[in-house]
Amino acid sequence: MTEQSANLKIEDKAVDLTVRSGTIGPDVIDIGALYKHTGKFTYDPGFTSTASCESKITYIDGDEGVLLHRGYPIEQLAEKGDFLEVCYLLLYGELPTAAQKKDFDHRVTHHTMVHEQMSKFFSGYRRDAHPMAVMVGTVGALSAFYHDSTDITDPHQRMVASLRMIAKMPTIAAMAYKYHIGQPFVYPKNNLDYAANFLHMCFAVPCEDYAVNPVLARAMDRIFILHADHEQNASTSTVRLAGSSGANPFACIAAGIACLWGPAHGGANEAALNMLREIGTVDRIPEYIARAKDKNDPFRLMGFGHRVYKNYDPRAKIMQKTMYEVLEATGNAGDPLMQVALELEKIALSDEYFIEKKLYPNVDFYSGITLRALGFPTEMFTVLFALARTVGWIAQWNEMIEDPQQRIGRPRQLYTGAPKRDYVAVAKR
Ligand code: CMC
Repeated sequence: MTEQSANLKIEDKAVDLTVRSGTIGPDVIDIGALYKHTGKFTYDPGFTSTASCESKITYIDGDEGVLLHRGYPIEQLAEKGDFLEVCYLLLYGELPTAAQKKDFDHRVTHHTMVHEQMSKFFSGYRRDAHPMAVMVGTVGALSAFYHDSTDITDPHQRMVASLRMIAKMPTIAAMAYKYHIGQPFVYPKNNLDYAANFLHMCFAVPCEDYAVNPVLARAMDRIFILHADHEQNASTSTVRLAGSSGANPFACIAAGIACLWGPAHGGANEAALNMLREIGTVDRIPEYIARAKDKNDPFRLMGFGHRVYKNYDPRAKIMQKTMYEVLEATGNAGDPLMQVALELEKIALSDEYFIEKKLYPNVDFYSGITLRALGFPTEMFTVLFALARTVGWIAQWNEMIEDPQQRIGRPRQLYTGAPKRDYVAVAKR
């Protein structure tokens, strides 16, 4: 590979900047020394042209609609793998052998219980608290319960914290749900796999037997796979930035959950279903399409558009297939909201506005209908996203800690405030 450089001329100064190539994807211009040589910063709000780190975990080609984890296409992982296998892949870089998989499953399964004191901690929340508020608080509080895995300089403690979070997140998410609806907490069951155990903790009650439907457990597992990691998105970048100061992993993941909550990110699945409910019937779609196109109306088609994908989000295709399976298995094949969603997609994809701006359905467009059919209320949708994304956050956090180039993240700014001025006594203002 020939070493390239980019030449930047500012006023009378010329600077040669190194151009670095990855395995695939666009090259990057290394501007690390720009300030030293020119006294200037770069300006890129929203990081649209900025690579914030080097990573070996996930690759997205937004123009082609490609998503790879450690090189493996998401379609193959979702079709042939299971969630814990994807967790192993994201964390360790390779698919596990049969023995490694068995050992990993065992280790995760045997970390699923949370400290009993945590159930008392829950009772401090109001019952009507949004489950995401409960997640931010409770996951942050894990560092108060598991002191023995907060030394980030110790690789063993880092891995214990990583496994603890992957294992305990379903338990905490299910507890948030049970607390919200006023039912008793259900303990994890070690004879169930990861997704089945989660459905069990959410939907079983002590007074009845509960058998997990294997079709629904497989669908839940696939939904987890689809959300496991997504490169340097807002919440992952938040986790990395929080971690760059040396903060403990539980606190960093709580920061990621807080960022995920917003409607432009993980909150979009909840917003998308609410939007479909609001539209209600197929005949009202044109009105909402017109609103989405109106510059003076803040309304957007939720579950549409993506910063990186300028093509169909590959996860949305798999999610659509999963939606059909779940609706069929739960006797909801004629769900009117599904009709609205399918028609909305058809109309939007043939509309000049959406074509020109390359706005396609994203993973959240079909996930709401699917999660609702699985039995979850809308407030739980983003919680499920957080549960699944935990492994991605953790893998990226570990990668950052191990990166010899890692320094505290500290962006600069273009200051446009008042220049230096003298303090004026209150009586003279
Ligand atoms: N409906 C209508 N117009 C849209 C939409 C939409 N959903 N999304 C983008 N646009 C328009 C936008 O108005 C802008 O038009 P113009 O250039 O005329 O000003 C143009 O498309 C580009 O939009 P942007 O906001 O500059 O793009 P962005 O990359 O900053 O935002 C986004 C990406 C995902 C936040 C945005 O598309 C959006 O708000 N979508 C709806 C929310 C959503 O579904 N989010 C889930 C993302 S996938 C899951 C995840 O990663 O968390």
